[in-house]
Amino acid sequence: MTLRVRLNGRDLLLDVDPQRRLLDVLRDELRLTGSKEGCGEGECGACTVLLDGEPVCSCLVPAGQVDGSEIMTVEGLGDGELLSAVQDALVRFGGTQCGICTPGIAVCATAALRREPDASAERLRELLAGNLCRCTGYQLVIDALCAAARPAAGPSGEGAP
Ligand code: FES
Ligand code: FES
Repeated sequence: MTLRVRLNGRDLLLDVDPQRRLLDVLRDELRLTGSKEGCGEGECGACTVLLDGEPVCSCLVPAGQVDGSEIMTVEGLGDGELLSAVQDALVRFGGTQCGICTPGIAVCATAALRREPDASAERLRELLAGNLCRCTGYQLVIDALCAAARPAAGPSGEGAP
């Protein structure tokens, strides 16, 4: 099957088995290995990509379903070598340790902050509830996301408007 997609801002035609998981097409065929496989069952969020602007678990999406769609992976968040504000904050605040969850968190948080730029720390925890992390205890992640949303704010949005 030939898919027509817009991937990280580029229009592509892809010849793929429509039953293959989007995660496998991204990683194995397109060498976009930022999206990680954690559980492979839609439980951990490590494989999250944006499909027409909405976060989805790419381990659950058959490639045949994305024909005509716009896909954004973690590789498309920044500008070339320049990290996005969310990615940069995750690094600066130590919100990434082993890094397995980080791409999914960065993608999901980007969508969340586009939709709710004034989201509180508590709300961000809710919006990121589908992204599991075994390393950070989440506080550093939330601190990073608050800083990305409100650069002048302290950890967890202290001092934010
Ligand atoms: S690998 Fe897709 S949700 Fe865990
Ligand atoms: S940084 Fe290791 S799972 Fe989140």
